[in-house]
Amino acid sequence: MKTPTFPEAASMLAEPAGEMECLTRRIEQAEAELAALRKERDQAFRAIADLRNETFFDLARSAERNDGESPLHTARIGIYTSLIAAELGCPDAHCQLLERAAQLHDIGKIGIHATILSKPGPLTTEEWKMMREHPRIGASIIGESEQPLLKLAGEIAMSHHEHFNGFGYPLGLAGEAIPLAGRIVGLADFFDALTHDRSYRQALPVDKVLSMIGERRGEQFDPLVVDAFMRIFEQIEEVREQLVEQEAFGDAADWDSPWWMVY
Ligand SMILES: [Fe+2]
Ligand SMILES: [Fe+2]
Repeated sequence: MKTPTFPEAASMLAEPAGEMECLTRRIEQAEAELAALRKERDQAFRAIADLRNETFFDLARSAERNDGESPLHTARIGIYTSLIAAELGCPDAHCQLLERAAQLHDIGKIGIHATILSKPGPLTTEEWKMMREHPRIGASIIGESEQPLLKLAGEIAMSHHEHFNGFGYPLGLAGEAIPLAGRIVGLADFFDALTHDRSYRQALPVDKVLSMIGERRGEQFDPLVVDAFMRIFEQIEEVREQLVEQEAFGDAADWDSPWWMVY
């Protein structure tokens, strides 16, 4: 057998090395293209998720408007909830999530007829029965999601009318069986609903609402949540006054934007 000369051997070795280099370059190029495609896909998923969430927020605000609430009701509930949760020691990231999730608490009212929601007087037994379905409707709209925001929002929608003593609805849960987020939103919603006009009654003075909350401590409301609320009441009141004032003098349409989340 003929032994290859040096130039022959060198070209035999160079050929596979060149192919390998070419292959490596193609693999690197394919990897870069794949990474770019993944980035595009993730951006598209995020955009779809954002759009879906915005739809939920719009739905929740529409439901509240049918209920005679101002566009700022959901915003106020979000802020109060986050402030109370922070006072109870919840981590910042969770408080931020709660601030958004709480705004969807009454999304289920989208399934209740507007004539019931805006009825200028007490509800009949049948209407009241329908009204009490809004937590279940809300949870069924958003609660199936595994996305942390919607999961939490679904939990809140389902539990914000449960009472600490077990006499709430829809499940009649008591004490800590009620998710903490639901216990906080229940109190925030009570305070906000009673301190603003509704179709069936006028706003009550803040002092009166505070004494009603005190009377319901340990009954309708978790004592720890009431105590946290009372400790930070000045902060709550400051936010409420600012939002009421700006709502009165500003363009209500602007309130749908999330700028107020700076609070
Ligand atoms: Fe509700
Ligand atoms: Fe509400």
